[in-house]
Amino acid sequence: MSSFFISTPIYYVNDKPHAGTAYTTVLADILNRYHHFFEQPSFFLTGLDEHGQKCQQTAELKKQKPQELCDQMAQVFQKTWQALDIQYSRFYRTTSPDHKKKVQQALQKLFDSHFIYESSYEGWYSVSEEIFYKEKDLINGRSPEGKEVIKIKEKNYFFKMSQFKDRLVQHLKQNPHFIYPQERQNEVLGFLNKGLDDLCISRPKKRLQWGIELPFDSHYVAYVWVDALLNYVFGAGLNLDSSDSSSASFHSWWSESHHLIGKDILITHAVYWPCLLMALGLPLPKRILSHGWLLNKEQEKMSKSKGGVLDPMELLNELSPSALRYFFMKGVRFGQDAPISRNLILKEYNDDLVNNLGNLLQRTTVLLEKFFDGKTPQPPPQTHPIQIQAQKTCGQVKTLILNFSLNQAVFAVVELLNTVNKFLEKEEPWKQAQSHLKQAGFTLYTALEALRVSAGLLQPVIPQASREILKRMGLSFQTWDKTRSLQVLAAGQAVKKGPPLFPRPQK
Ligand code: MSP
Repeated sequence: MSSFFISTPIYYVNDKPHAGTAYTTVLADILNRYHHFFEQPSFFLTGLDEHGQKCQQTAELKKQKPQELCDQMAQVFQKTWQALDIQYSRFYRTTSPDHKKKVQQALQKLFDSHFIYESSYEGWYSVSEEIFYKEKDLINGRSPEGKEVIKIKEKNYFFKMSQFKDRLVQHLKQNPHFIYPQERQNEVLGFLNKGLDDLCISRPKKRLQWGIELPFDSHYVAYVWVDALLNYVFGAGLNLDSSDSSSASFHSWWSESHHLIGKDILITHAVYWPCLLMALGLPLPKRILSHGWLLNKEQEKMSKSKGGVLDPMELLNELSPSALRYFFMKGVRFGQDAPISRNLILKEYNDDLVNNLGNLLQRTTVLLEKFFDGKTPQPPPQTHPIQIQAQKTCGQVKTLILNFSLNQAVFAVVELLNTVNKFLEKEEPWKQAQSHLKQAGFTLYTALEALRVSAGLLQPVIPQASREILKRMGLSFQTWDKTRSLQVLAAGQAVKKGPPLFPRPQK
C-alpha cells in the first residue's frame, strides 16, 4: 500500500499564526487524517523557519535574543495548532543543533562538488523578502511583490543554479502534474523560459548574524531560504552521511512526498529547491501543491502589512475548531484566492453544520428517544436507496480527496445530508410513528445510518464534532471499511440525544 507524506512551509517566527498560516496547516492536517482514514501510512511535517533578517530584526525590536524569540514563538505556534485540533507527526525547528549540522554538511557537499563559487554582487535587495532582484525584475522601483528594495554591493557565495535549468524544465515536461494546480506549473515554466541566474546563498555576518554559518567561510551565514528549504528532506529523515536503514525510510516517504505552499512562495519551492536537490544528488519530491490566498475585506492578501488579519485564537474564543476547519475546507477552492471574514466562516457554519448536520442529528435522536426508547430501531428489510447513495458518497469523497478537490469532497457529503433531510421531510417519521411505528423505525434507521456515514467521512475535517456524533450513536472511530459498509448500526443500541452539537454564537 502506498504511503503519503505532507508538509507545510515552515513559518517565520516574526509574528504569531494568522488565518493564512492556519489555513495551510489545517489543510495539511486534514489530508494527513484522510490518508490515515484510508488506511495508508501517512506523515505530516510542519515547523518553523527561525533564522534570517526578519527574526533578527523582530528580536531586536522586542529587546530579546533571537533564540528567546524563537523558543517563545515555537510555543505560540504549537498551542495554536493544538487549539485547531492539528496533529502533526513532527514539528521541525531550524535552530535545532541537528538541523544546523545537516545544513552545514549539505553546503560543504555543494562546495566540494564545485556547485558553489565566490563572486561580487551588485544589485537590488528586498530586506523583508530577503531576495536579490535584477533591475529588470523590479516593478515601479519595487519587488514584484511590491516590497521596498535597496541597492547593495558585496562579496558573496553563489550556487550554480543556472546549470540545472534544462534538467528542471525537462522534469516539469515529463511530470505534468508535478505542480498542482496546472496553471502554477505553466507559471513556473514561463519563469524558467526567461532564463535562470545563479543564486546568492550567503549573507555577510556584518549585515546578518542570525543564521547558519557557512562551513567554508566563517564570515558568512547561509541565505535563510537555503537553510529553510532543506528542512523537508531532513524532516523526512534524510541523513547525508549514512546509507543505513534511516535512509531507506527517508526514500520511502520521499517518493510519496507532497508539499503544500502558498502561491507567493512558488518560485522558491518550484525552482530554487529542486535545483538544490539535484545538485545534492537527491530525488525531487513527488508534488508541490500550491494554494491561493485568503483575502481581506479589500480583496487583498490577508497579511500583517496589508491588514485585515484574522487571529485564529481570537476566532476560537467564540467558534469551535470545527467551524474554522470546516470553512478552510469548504469555503475555499484549492488553488484559488478566497475572501475570509468572521461572517463568511459563520455562514458556512450555520448553513451546513448547524442547520444541516446538527439539525439531522437533533431530529433523529429526539425522535428515537420519543418513540423508540432511545434505541436504534430495526433496519428496513431492503436496503434503502439512501444507503446506496451513502456508499457512493464514500467512493466520491475518496476520489476527490486523492485528487485534491477538497471542497468538492465536502460538497458530496453535504449533498448526502440534504437528501436525508429531504427524506425526513417527506416521510415525516413523527407522523408515521402515530400509526406505523415500524415504518417510522425504518425511516429513522435509514437517516441514522446516513448520519453515521457522513460523520465517518467528516472525521478528518471536524474530528471533535464527528467523534461526538458517533458517540451519541454508541460508536467510536469509524474506519474506512466500516464507514462504507451497509447497516453497521445494531438494532437496540442506545442512542443518546444531547445539547446542540453546533451552538449558535452569541452575536
Ligand atoms: N518561511 C517561509 C517559508 C519557508 S518554507 C521552506 C514563509 N513563511 S511565512 O510564515 O511568511 O508564510 C508561510 C505560508 O503562509 C506561505 O505558504 C504563505 O503563502 C502562507 N500565507 C501567508 N498569508 C496568507 C494568506 N493571506 N492566505 C493564504 N496563505 C497565506 O514564507
